[in-house]
Amino acid sequence: MVNGKSSLTALAVLAGLGYCATTNYCDISKNICINDGFVTLPIRGGIANITINTLEVNVQTNKTTSLRFSNGIPIDKNSATKPQFNNNETSVSWNIPSRNCAVVASMTNGRLRIQLSQPDNSNITWPITGGNVDAKYQSLQYPRGPGRNIPLRDEFWNQGTQQWAKGPGTFGDMVLDDEGVDVSNDFMMPFWGYSAGQGLGSAYMLEEDIETTVKHTSESGSLQSSFTHTFSQRENTLTYSVMFEVTDGSVLAPGFAYRRYLQETKNLLLMKDKITSLPQNKRLLGAFHAYCWGESGCDMEAMKKLVAFGIKKLWVGWNDNPMTNETTKFAKNQGYLVGPYDTFANGQPANESDTVLGIWPGTAYPDQCIRKADGSIMAGFHDRGCYMSTQAQALSELKTGNMAQRVRNSTATGANSYFLDVDASPEFFTDYSKDHPQNMMMDRKNRLDRMLKIAKEFVLGSENSKGWANSAVSFGHGSLTMVDPRFWTFLMNKKNVYGGYTPPGGPEMFFKPVDFPENFATTMFGPKYMIPLTEAVLHDSVVNVDRWDIPLYKFPVVTKQRVLQSMLYNVPVMLAINGTVIEEKGAEIAKFQKFFEPLHETGGLLPLTTFEYLSEDRMTQATTFGNGELKIIVNFGSVAKYGGPDKGCVRAILNNKQSDLCV
Ligand SMILES: *[C@@H]1O[C@H](CO)[C@@H](O)[C@H](O)[C@H]1NC(C)=O
Ligand SMILES: *[C@@H]1O[C@H](CO)[C@@H](O)[C@H](O)[C@H]1NC(C)=O
Ligand SMILES: *[C@@H]1O[C@H](CO)[C@@H](O)[C@H](O)[C@H]1NC(C)=O
Ligand SMILES: *[C@@H]1O[C@H](CO)[C@@H](O)[C@H](O)[C@H]1NC(C)=O
Ligand SMILES: *[C@@H]1O[C@H](CO)[C@@H](O)[C@H](O)[C@H]1NC(C)=O
Ligand SMILES: *[C@@H]1O[C@H](CO)[C@@H](O)[C@H](O)[C@H]1NC(C)=O
Ligand SMILES: *[C@@H]1O[C@H](CO)[C@@H](O)[C@H](O)[C@H]1NC(C)=O
Ligand SMILES: *[C@@H]1O[C@H](CO)[C@@H](O)[C@H](O)[C@H]1NC(C)=O
Repeated sequence: MVNGKSSLTALAVLAGLGYCATTNYCDISKNICINDGFVTLPIRGGIANITINTLEVNVQTNKTTSLRFSNGIPIDKNSATKPQFNNNETSVSWNIPSRNCAVVASMTNGRLRIQLSQPDNSNITWPITGGNVDAKYQSLQYPRGPGRNIPLRDEFWNQGTQQWAKGPGTFGDMVLDDEGVDVSNDFMMPFWGYSAGQGLGSAYMLEEDIETTVKHTSESGSLQSSFTHTFSQRENTLTYSVMFEVTDGSVLAPGFAYRRYLQETKNLLLMKDKITSLPQNKRLLGAFHAYCWGESGCDMEAMKKLVAFGIKKLWVGWNDNPMTNETTKFAKNQGYLVGPYDTFANGQPANESDTVLGIWPGTAYPDQCIRKADGSIMAGFHDRGCYMSTQAQALSELKTGNMAQRVRNSTATGANSYFLDVDASPEFFTDYSKDHPQNMMMDRKNRLDRMLKIAKEFVLGSENSKGWANSAVSFGHGSLTMVDPRFWTFLMNKKNVYGGYTPPGGPEMFFKPVDFPENFATTMFGPKYMIPLTEAVLHDSVVNVDRWDIPLYKFPVVTKQRVLQSMLYNVPVMLAINGTVIEEKGAEIAKFQKFFEPLHETGGLLPLTTFEYLSEDRMTQATTFGNGELKIIVNFGSVAKYGGPDKGCVRAILNNKQSDLCV
């Protein structure tokens, strides 16, 4: 019994930690000890120690080593009340009256769990974690995009605004978003962690991420991450729970910790179960993803050419050129998934709309628009129309059937898949309307509910596909790249740099190859700083792909590297296709897809189990899936090394059979 209370105590005693030796109120059978000024409790891997006045948290992992989980909060005076046992002494509570903070600490499933409650509209900046908190910490891992692994004292990542401004000239933010980012909006899932070397590390998880932001700052040349939670009655966030774990320090450990948490709470739905519910999901395994543009990319001719090149599996999405019945039928017969791009997020006046996707029947616009606190309508993406309120849409659905009808309209030519933009990766909205009020949690639930409905019938994907949506979505577009915040400015510069929405047969935005600043190559695609952390949680649940507006051939300078990364993570490549691309790149795409197909047919149903750097420069990397059924080694470097695959090559070992691909 690994998780049991008594065995944890026994482990602590075995480790020679002298558990409870210095305490003044505790019974070894109760596990939690209340001391003068601090509380200790055994967790997996050590004994946690919480300073009651400041919430500084440490863990003693053996006789000689301790690790700081969090710095304390600044206080004027020691005011904490004496901790009291509750719930049969499985948890302990106290108050910090100077800030009106009620604390409950417990050990749950081997983790330390600390829950804070404060008055409406107050906040707390805690935990405070990182390299300045414990010098042993070496690198930070967190799940934005595919996942990052950032050396805490790396010069590049410790640069401030000034340094950046000197760089490409037009961009002014710090590399790590020092303005603070919303965890619910910007993290794929609410966890992070650190490697401390010598087989030791820490992992952190939030039970709920709404109303929590994180700020990364450089303190004495080392990165520190401070989390701020806002306690809000309206948002139902009056409690704030943080869980702490001791890990083995491997870079994927925080991901594995979060995966265990999802499994314990029955919040992880595996792809194999999605396939059981809807067998068409199986078509995702081994398929690349492509958006087709114009007649020349979406018609019968295009599909026939793709098939002729030997592309056996493909997900094809269309935007404004729905495939005809005939083409859809042909593509499905080949084993492809085909479906529309759609979004329910936008509403516009029918006579002024710039997209049919913004037009809803009757008075849905403006009736279902989100209202701000002052009663005004919340303008939509890029100031187009409004953001639709998911609560208003849900409340009216029974009467209007608008969303169900939209799905029927969009799939009328026989689609077997559906891409619903925004829903699995939204900024959550509070709606202050009197007719359809909602808080952010309701918004999330509304989105999940409507996605679950579509997923019953269609192989469903959405933008990014955050962890909370894994029961509904089978694939996500966007999670394979952590988009640098300054990149949006670059992308919006459609006329001069990125390319706009013309020509219709191949909008330059998707098709025009562009160069981009070296800094982006580092923040968005640098293999040294990227790890498959999202895959460590979700690999056998959701197929994670790139954004549609950064398809494979968009940035020639990183194309090869991106193919290798996809292979290493065992996830598909994202393409933009029209007749010309099929003609010019079809053979190459087919070569890559053919290599990927068997690997993902097996690997897509297996969890990611290991990730390793095989060279000191971190440019040769290896992954393992399942119990070693699939192993992949990639050499991103510029030189051959270690008798592994040559530079620019990937080696796959599938059920002991080896194959190589050089790109
Ligand atoms: C717990 O932390 C307090 C405050 O830092 C320290 O005085 C105490 O010795 C620690 N106790 C244990 C058992 O580690
Ligand atoms: C509390 O502990 C007692 C004694 O060990 C046990 O009999 C009782 O069932 C426990 N109650 C709860 C709610 O766990
Ligand atoms: C937290 O509360 C303080 C005091 O009310 C306020 O000044 C600060 O702006 C708040 N911080 C955040 C991140 O909400
Ligand atoms: C304590 O843990 C550290 C870090 O994992 C390790 O280096 C050290 O050898 C351990 N010491 C003992 C006495 O086990
Ligand atoms: C669209 O309709 C609204 C309401 O009838 C009207 O005020 C507006 O001028 C119309 N816009 C255009 C471009 O015709
Ligand atoms: C579905 O299509 C019909 C016919 O074009 C249109 O009248 C209706 O408004 C559409 N419904 C929705 C919800 O988009
Ligand atoms: C297209 O196929 C669907 C069935 O998949 C059918 O209901 C519809 O009538 C067809 N439309 C046309 C224009 O043939
Ligand atoms: C495909 O897109 C490219 C880039 O815009 C364009 O040059 C080309 O003409 C397009 N091909 C077709 C067949 O439309």
